[in-house]
Amino acid sequence: MGCEEAAVAAGADALAAGRLVAFPTETVYGLGANALDAGAVGRVFAAKGRPTDHPLICHVVSAGALAPLVADVTPVAQALAAAFWPGPLTLVMPRSAAVPDAVTGGRDTVAVRVPAHPLALALLRAFGGPVAAPSANRFGRPSPTTATDVADELGEAVAVILDGGPCEIGIESTVLDLTTDPPQVLRPGRISAEQVAQVIGGPVDAEASGPARAPGMLESHYAPGARVEVVAAEQAAARATALHAEGMRVAVLAPDPVDALPQGVLVLGPVGGADDYAARLYAAFRRADAEGAGVIVAIPPPAEGIGVAVRDRLQRASAGR
Ligand code: TXA
Ligand code: MG
Repeated sequence: MGCEEAAVAAGADALAAGRLVAFPTETVYGLGANALDAGAVGRVFAAKGRPTDHPLICHVVSAGALAPLVADVTPVAQALAAAFWPGPLTLVMPRSAAVPDAVTGGRDTVAVRVPAHPLALALLRAFGGPVAAPSANRFGRPSPTTATDVADELGEAVAVILDGGPCEIGIESTVLDLTTDPPQVLRPGRISAEQVAQVIGGPVDAEASGPARAPGMLESHYAPGARVEVVAAEQAAARATALHAEGMRVAVLAPDPVDALPQGVLVLGPVGGADDYAARLYAAFRRADAEGAGVIVAIPPPAEGIGVAVRDRLQRASAGR
């Protein structure tokens, strides 16, 4: 058995024993438990310090594994699964009786996705059932995008951490509520409302930066310890300079290099286009914290593609403190 295979087998055994396994996905690392074992799911909430009324996402190996978890696999769900799975789209649907209340926070709906990462899929295949997994961070912290991030935050509580290197996308999946008409984006991500609308051939409510409707999507989520200030590109140098002059440890996060920054300002970029920005956002938050920054001056990417989701996370991070 190869090293990776052995780790996957150990992960599947741990899940079967009701223990927690952290695994990489294409978005962020997840903290997984057997979704059909309410006791194991309870340990996820305890490890994260997360309120138990916040529902978790069920990860399955393929669209074919969806049926037992939901009341009905509708044609719309089928079309979206065919178009985007494996991938960063989470579908909220009426649940079946098989899903414990612990997973859904007592709701009559369940959120499901098929992750596009070979290690995640290998784990799901080896385990042979649905895995409930939120992002593998402590409650209110940025999601982890490397195995080291997971170990730093949750080390003790996790039986196995599968290391798949840095996550490709870097921010959480798009959450789409299929129980409303039209379907509604509860959390923006890599897959846009427009992409979804194209597949279903009808309107989609893109609530990109509106009030949080998804349970557990508090404004204070996704935040680093440092305060985040979102500013326009033209104002970034002046704002960083003013904060620096006040004696703050200032970090700057920007798509392009920022000129005329004072010595001693921590530069967390340039982070390039929106895809790069997403991939590096949470690592940049963590680095700012590790270097003792008191404030992050962030220039958002344009609101196109995944830029919409990056702006949403920056907004939440800045509103949180
Ligand atoms: O990319 C991702 O989605 C990552 C990886 C690990 O798959 N997972 C993740 O999980 O971000 P978490 O628990 O941090 O966020 C899941 C969000 C919840 O905050 C909630 O907003 C929404 O999904 N959600 C889950 N179940 C729901 C339900 N039944 N109804 C509405 N929203 C739900
Ligand atoms: Mg999370």
